[in-house]
Amino acid sequence: MLYLVTGGAGFIGSHITDRLLADGHSVRILDNFSTGKRENIPDSAAVEVIEGDVGDYDTVCTAMKQVDIVFHEAAIASVPETVGNPLASERVNYRGTVNILEAARQADVKRVMFACSAAVYGDLPELPKREDMHIKPLSPYSVDKLASEHACQMYFLLYGLETVSLRYFNVFGPRQDPSSPYSGVISIFSDQLSHGKQPTIYGDGEQTRDFVYVADVVEANISAAAAPAAAGKAINIATGSKLSINDLLKTICNIKGQPFEPNYKPGRQGDIKHSRADISAAREYLDWQPVVGFEAGLRELFEQS
Ligand SMILES: NC(=O)c1ccc[n+]([C@@H]2O[C@H](COP(=O)([O-])OP(=O)(O)OC[C@H]3O[C@@H](n4cnc5c(N)ncnc54)[C@H](O)[C@@H]3O)[C@@H](O)[C@H]2O)c1
Repeated sequence: MLYLVTGGAGFIGSHITDRLLADGHSVRILDNFSTGKRENIPDSAAVEVIEGDVGDYDTVCTAMKQVDIVFHEAAIASVPETVGNPLASERVNYRGTVNILEAARQADVKRVMFACSAAVYGDLPELPKREDMHIKPLSPYSVDKLASEHACQMYFLLYGLETVSLRYFNVFGPRQDPSSPYSGVISIFSDQLSHGKQPTIYGDGEQTRDFVYVADVVEANISAAAAPAAAGKAINIATGSKLSINDLLKTICNIKGQPFEPNYKPGRQGDIKHSRADISAAREYLDWQPVVGFEAGLRELFEQS
């Protein structure tokens, strides 16, 4: 089987690539290396790399040749970056997805998995977040992710192209880049502690998130590629539990054997207070649930870094 992983040089895409290679498959990566790194791509004869842009339809068509299954991870993944440049977000995060879907339809691809986001829920207070609830996307990023999700469902209903949208919550794990201030909070805390810096918490630290380990996200993708009932669905990928930022930092400090001494700064505009998923759809349609979980994931992460 030939798999196309867009964004395969990035954090999540490179872990999906590792898993596919371990299963003996061939992988083609389409990545423009805007945030992805060459060192994330394994040195293997079974990997082909196309340096290119998902916003360019001809490039996407070239990358789609002979492909059986697609994992579409490429995106401008920074919400603030999309707030600063909504046109770039539309071009990459929405049109890039439509390019993937149309090229996949033309190439008779069996299934496309789309990396959607919990950001589509916005700041509505109701918890846990269910896929069928009222939502309120609040940024170019979340609007383009939601529009892409609708495009995925439309391609399934209208053209019969099998698509699965996976709404990732807060993913963490090795290779998450801490250099951006908007990157995953776990990689930022870890980086600050490793460099002897005082970790920064915005607001009172009582805001909560649903953190899911990258290996569990990879398994969700692998299940989604094969689960018959998943076609045409949008499905939360998370743990279903919540953790405050204060408790997160305490846990990291415990594991690293360092004191808990955060530097509290004013809350950031647009930060969502609480986020937690209902993962019953993932159980039902993917027969998936997280197996590594939060604490084991953290330990695994710090053992590797
Ligand atoms: N990390 C999370 O917690 C999280 C949560 C929700 C959703 N997501 C989504 O999961 C996907 C992967 O996220 P990630 O955390 O691995 O981010 P990442 O930035 O590490 O990976 C994105 C990859 O896409 C590539 N890319 C960006 N623009 C491109 C373009 N125009 N053409 C081709 N390649 C391009 C980048 O170079 C990078 O390799 C993204 O779609 C993101 O929106 C991530």
